[in-house]
Amino acid sequence: MTKQTLPNDKPLMGKIITKELECEDTYKFLIELPIKAQRALPGQFIMLWVPGVDEFPIGIAGFKENILEVGIAKMGPGTEAMINKQIGDLVGVRGFYGKPFKPPQDVNHLLIGGGFGMTPLKLLTTTLLEKDSKQNIHVFEGARTKDRLMYLDWFQDLHDKDLITFHVCTDDGSYGYQGFPTVDLENFLQENQTPSVMYVAGPEKMMKAIFNIGKKYSNVMDMQMSLADRYMRCGFGACSYCAVDPTGWRICVDGPVFNTEQLEQISDFGLYKRLESGEKVRI
Ligand SMILES: Cc1cc2nc3c(=O)[nH]c(=O)nc-3n(C[C@H](O)[C@H](O)[C@H](O)COP(=O)(O)OP(=O)(O)OC[C@H]3O[C@@H](n4cnc5c(N)ncnc54)[C@H](O)[C@@H]3O)c2cc1C
Ligand code: FES
Repeated sequence: MTKQTLPNDKPLMGKIITKELECEDTYKFLIELPIKAQRALPGQFIMLWVPGVDEFPIGIAGFKENILEVGIAKMGPGTEAMINKQIGDLVGVRGFYGKPFKPPQDVNHLLIGGGFGMTPLKLLTTTLLEKDSKQNIHVFEGARTKDRLMYLDWFQDLHDKDLITFHVCTDDGSYGYQGFPTVDLENFLQENQTPSVMYVAGPEKMMKAIFNIGKKYSNVMDMQMSLADRYMRCGFGACSYCAVDPTGWRICVDGPVFNTEQLEQISDFGLYKRLESGEKVRI
């Protein structure tokens, strides 16, 4: 099999070869594709087609040879139909789409997220460790309860092997410290004056709060945030459903990852998003 790019005009059918409960209402799937595709970059996404139901954007948790890993959280009919799929079933994949995270060298890498935002952060962690296992990687994850922490065992195992530092918290204190990821993040930034870059993926209100914290610290060289908490229709720049004000940037092609300079120009960031109807509502 030679390496090819995945088709982005029509879905390529892939077979589900693994399905496992990852955390509450969230499943890990491995999908075997009929071609060896070029590597997915952390932060990019696919459009996943569940035949007869819907097609929607999904982040990439892992990609090796022709095996794609995704994590699906139950939201509505599309994600529920995917979760009901079984090993051997076929689903459609097109992509890879979007601008990825761009980690520079010689900085503290601070990965912060929650919910399905942990999906691109898993691939980012893998990519950073492949480059150099001695990098200074800190992962901050928060969830309502222990049962909702995505990839808990995976990140905890890397922490136990001293490959990353895992800062984990829950709202109810059932795992890690009780509180929000912002607490440990701010402690870290106060105690470490060396250059740091943040990579954030999760609910947009959380990202905005983290952005405001990052702005206070001169050692934060860049904040790269994935605006994936938004409605998308085509995934490749044709419909403008995902455009943000006032720049008109389309999240699917100009993002989903935006850097500090870009986030400062998006007045919608953390405040407004569009519904499926196109109506703009407060987040
Ligand atoms: C770039 C990108 C990457 C994504 N990666 C993942 C992923 O790795 N894993 C995953 O489970 N989901 C991911 N999502 C979200 C996923 O696309 C939506 O949850 C899905 O489209 C919902 O479809 P549905 O038919 O199940 O529910 P719908 O009926 O379409 O929606 C159900 C509820 O979910 C809300 N919703 C719809 N889209 C989103 C969204 N983008 N973010 C948050 N809430 C939404 C709706 O407002 C509604 O309240 C990603 C979204 C984007 C834009
Ligand atoms: S989803 Fe159609 S332009 Fe972005």
